[in-house]
Amino acid sequence: MPLLQWKSAYSLGIPSVDHEHRELIGMINEVYDHMEDAADPVAIESCLEDIYASIASHFALEERHMREARYTEYDAHKDEHENLLDQLLEMMDEFADDPQSGRETLRKSLADWFGIHFATFDARLHESLGDHHG
Ligand SMILES: [Fe+2]
Ligand SMILES: [Fe+2]
Repeated sequence: MPLLQWKSAYSLGIPSVDHEHRELIGMINEVYDHMEDAADPVAIESCLEDIYASIASHFALEERHMREARYTEYDAHKDEHENLLDQLLEMMDEFADDPQSGRETLRKSLADWFGIHFATFDARLHESLGDHHG
């Protein structure tokens, strides 16, 4: 069973953002599968780099929508995006230094790390944008 499952709660009602949420969930599930298969750390590292790049560009897209909508929670949401990217970089550094402990950290944290953001910050954004962007 994939680690992260798509939920309608993850939908913001903005097709481009929702499409990316689905893609990111797919990428996170894929890197987990690699970790389960005890794949070569270099392959996992390159997967993580792809995830980092995709997430950074996803956050930029979401932030653009928030600015256009003059979203009142913009600053807090953007800060949280920056925190998440910092945390992901830390996990990637740990994995590069010590694949075994890095793998454990990623297994424990990666799904929550992103799923919680979807379910809180992105869900509030969805509520605020309402149907206007549906
Ligand atoms: Fe998002
Ligand atoms: Fe977000």
